[in-house]
This record gives sequence, structure tokens and C-alpha cells, in this order.
Amino acid sequence: MGLAEDVAQGLTSKTKYILSRYFYDARGDQLFQEIMKMPEYYLTNCEYEIFSTKGADILKAFSNESKPFDLVEFGAGDGTKTRILLKRLLENQANFRYIPIDISGDVLENLKADLSKEIPELEVRPENAEYFNALEKIRSESDRPKLILFIGSSIGNFREEVIKKFLDELFEKMNTGDQILIGYDLMKDPNVILRAYNDSSGITRAFNLNVLKRINRELHADFNLEAFEHYPFYDPESGNAKSYLVSLKRQTVFLKSLELKVDFEVGEVIHTEISRKFKVADIERYFSNSGFQTVEHFYDCKHYFVDTLAKKP
Ligand code: AVJ
Repeated sequence: MGLAEDVAQGLTSKTKYILSRYFYDARGDQLFQEIMKMPEYYLTNCEYEIFSTKGADILKAFSNESKPFDLVEFGAGDGTKTRILLKRLLENQANFRYIPIDISGDVLENLKADLSKEIPELEVRPENAEYFNALEKIRSESDRPKLILFIGSSIGNFREEVIKKFLDELFEKMNTGDQILIGYDLMKDPNVILRAYNDSSGITRAFNLNVLKRINRELHADFNLEAFEHYPFYDPESGNAKSYLVSLKRQTVFLKSLELKVDFEVGEVIHTEISRKFKVADIERYFSNSGFQTVEHFYDCKHYFVDTLAKKP
């Protein structure tokens, strides 16, 4: 389904929602880059620290031979965090090709250009496709062992059932011995977590509201951005950080492309994102439920974040 169908479904549902994947238009990508640079958004710094200080250990845990392998990344983004890992792997004589997968061709072009300047000795082979389609293609072309990266706590955007489906499908599409490194944001002081989604500079607010701008543009809608407010919420019991857009007044929004009118009561919300925070025991349980073997956890010094390596045995 695309934007139109998903938005129609989400805004006519009893509890209104917009899927978080629609945050990422050109402006949304830019705002997310800014989020990653904010002091409150500790996730980026923590994972950068893990790759910088533990890159060699990650390589050792993956393989202690120097056999060639494919380093496959789901959702390449701008590669800031990956870049430090790539450097550490190369410094430790790893023999690999880097295969970033992304549905945005632009993102991949930029990444490839940047990497050829910064790490010219690295072989980069972008795949412009959906993760699992690309993985099947890579598997059919070569039987090199694979280390797959799914970093940044992107997995936090998935609901529990979706995590299960994702890991099951991944398991099926990996070969015996292939491994995956997944980045998870961990449960911690709830105040620290809430601040990461409610920064004082208003960048996250702009990021959340931007999805309405995108819908106005692409679906010829008339959302009044002044009549909605960003509302982040963290429930420390479930570990769910959720973002909402709250309607500040009673209003009706018209989406011309969908020929759809949507009524809002005062205080009614649109749920726009879930960013789950994990317990280590849950991470291990998810892996073993899908047949994986947890190999090792790599933490930052504050234990705010973990990159967990798991293997298809
Ligand atoms: C890219 C999904 C990891 O949930 O923390 C940042 C996106 N949303 N601030 C997250 C996001 C609001 C981010 N992920």
C-alpha cells in the first residue's frame, strides 16, 4: 500500500494514526539528520561510541578467520554511524564488500559518493530495493557469509508482532552461519528517554508536524499546522515511547485526493510513531523465538544502548 491508502485507512480508523515511515520525505530526512545531532538524542552518540570502541570486538565475534564476507546494511541512511564501523573493520584487516540496501535511490547515490571519497579502498555495492528482496538477490549471487546490520534502533518502530514477523522472515532468508547485528535502545531513566523525543529546540516537534505538511502537499489536504501540537509520551512499564499530534480545536480536515473529510474533537490525537525501548532479556527471547542464537551484546559505557550480534545456527 502507498501513502494514499495508508493515510485513508489511518485517519478513518477509530483511533487515528499515520504510519511513521511517512515522516521521511526530503524535509523529514533533513530533520532526522538534525535530530541525530541533538544532545538530547543520545541514541546516535551511544551507538557511535559502541562502533568506535568495540568495532574490532564485533569483527572477532563475527568471525576469527579472514575469509571474505558481505556486510549488508538494512536502511543505509547517511551512514555516519556505519562509517566508523567500516573504518574499524578495515583497520582490523576484515575482507568484505559493503552492500547498503535502501528504497531511496538518492540516499544510496549520496552514500556511495561520500564513501568513495572518504574510504576509497572500500568496495561498495548499493542495492536499491526492499530489504528482503535485496537479501534474496544477494543470496542468489554469492554464497559468501553475511553480516547484516540493522542499526539505530530502527527496530523500535516495529510493534511486537512485527518484530516477530521481521525476525522470522530474516531467519528464512539467511544462510546457516550468517549473522545479524541489531541496534536496540534500552530502557533507562524515563526522563532521559522523554527528553530525546521532546527536545527544547523544537526539532522533534517540527519532524512530527512535517508529516502533515507532506500530506497537505501530496494528498491535497488542508491540515492547519497551527491547530495541531506535538505530544510525546513515554510509558516506562511497557517501554513504549509514543508520539502523537493533538488536535487543539474541534475541526474538520479535507483531503482532496482522497475525497475524504476527517473530523477532530478537541484533544483528539493522531498516533504517529512508536519508538520502543527494550530489556536485554526481551532481545534474547525475540531472537531465540525465531531460531537465532544470541552471540554477544555490545554496550556503550552508560548501558543506554546495545548492539546485539545473533547467528543463524
Ligand atoms: C529512526 C526510528 C530510530 O524512533 O528514535 C527520532 C526516529 N523519531 N525522533 C526513533 C525518531 C523521533 C527514530 N528511529
